[in-house]
Amino acid sequence: MKKMAYKDEQLHEVKVFKDPVHRYVRVVDRVIWDLIATKEFQRLRMIKQLGTTNVTFHGAEHSRFNHSLGVYEIVRRMVKNFKSEEGWDRDEDLLCLCAALLHDLGHGPFSHSFEKVFDLDHEKFTQAIILGDTDVHTVLSRVASDFPEKVASVIAKTYENKLVVSLISSQIDADRMDYLQRDAYYTGVSYGHFDMERILRVMRPGTDEVVIKSTGMHAVEDYIMSRYQMYWQVYFHPVTRSAEVILINIFMRANMLYHSGYPFRLKPTHFQPFFEGDISVEEYLALNDGVVQYYFQVWQEEEDPILSDLCSRFLERRLFKYIEYNPMLQEDDFFQLQVLFRRAGIDPDYYLAVDKSADLPYDFYESASGSRTPIYLQMPTTELVELSQESTIVEALSRKKRSDHKLYYPLDFIERIKDDDLREEIIRLLRKRGESHIHS
Ligand code: NI
Repeated sequence: MKKMAYKDEQLHEVKVFKDPVHRYVRVVDRVIWDLIATKEFQRLRMIKQLGTTNVTFHGAEHSRFNHSLGVYEIVRRMVKNFKSEEGWDRDEDLLCLCAALLHDLGHGPFSHSFEKVFDLDHEKFTQAIILGDTDVHTVLSRVASDFPEKVASVIAKTYENKLVVSLISSQIDADRMDYLQRDAYYTGVSYGHFDMERILRVMRPGTDEVVIKSTGMHAVEDYIMSRYQMYWQVYFHPVTRSAEVILINIFMRANMLYHSGYPFRLKPTHFQPFFEGDISVEEYLALNDGVVQYYFQVWQEEEDPILSDLCSRFLERRLFKYIEYNPMLQEDDFFQLQVLFRRAGIDPDYYLAVDKSADLPYDFYESASGSRTPIYLQMPTTELVELSQESTIVEALSRKKRSDHKLYYPLDFIERIKDDDLREEIIRLLRKRGESHIHS
């Protein structure tokens, strides 16, 4: 008997992961099982899915590992449903499953803050890990020599079969469907729930993207609403952003100290490649939330008062307070506050920050990157209609970008300013707007 090709190899028995969101995550393919066992995939256990959100919602301790398995499971169900559908090429099944499992492989610790400071792109690192000298690459290469490139191109959205890409990244993809439900579950909020089972049942393979049978429109409306609410209630929560501002400032301070030759008690060995702007895949993979937190723990004892204070704030959750900030109206106030902070001996570069959040819940314009591919409803006539033309609810949210600015500052430092006039002047400026928040 001819030995079965690696890509077709099945496990002797189905492996089942218990999952609080999807109940079970099922693995039958040998390739998937081997990928899960790689050290690069296991590393995702040490990266929290929601970064600093746990300062606000204490349940949000789940990892990128959980989420990645969840996205895999959703895609597994999608391709299973597509099995008998015309227009679906079953040879793409394994590619979809691998891309789903590995789509977040390149996330760094506290990803978004970390990326901001060092101008990194986790998607580029995902590519580099899949294509580099890694265990993941070894497993994928056993499928076929060009298979790693294929998986990387699906994640990079450049793969020729756009239908395959749309399962992993589109406006109704497995990634979003997993994180909305998972993040809702772990934060404990009541938003974020929608009927995924129903969406999966009405999802069909279209020519260039998945389409939704028009009878499933209301389930999709629920999904768009839940996305909208999760962004504003959870992801952009101002307290979470306060911790993120502190985190960013720690990295900036450490970077500055490193370049000025400051004698660290604990040298930032792991961060050195990032400070130097020359990072290998190996150095990137050596970082995770635990490593970062270890440095913060030790840096609390550093000589530099700013670095040590910021690290303590982060670990002890002594966060910055915030007020609403309007960049059009309050720019002068911001400059004035910088001057007053300096006079009070508080460095505004690390203790005064404007943070902006912006979101577009649904956009039906196609962008060059393809990430804004609209959601199409398949009408009983088989004609395709863009979702917002049929749904009044989605129409109301479409193309409406909402943004929000907050100004962050350390109230405890301000309250300790000895000079009464200076202190009062700073408080007066902060109170001009956002009165209700100053003592919250
Ligand atoms: Ni993801």
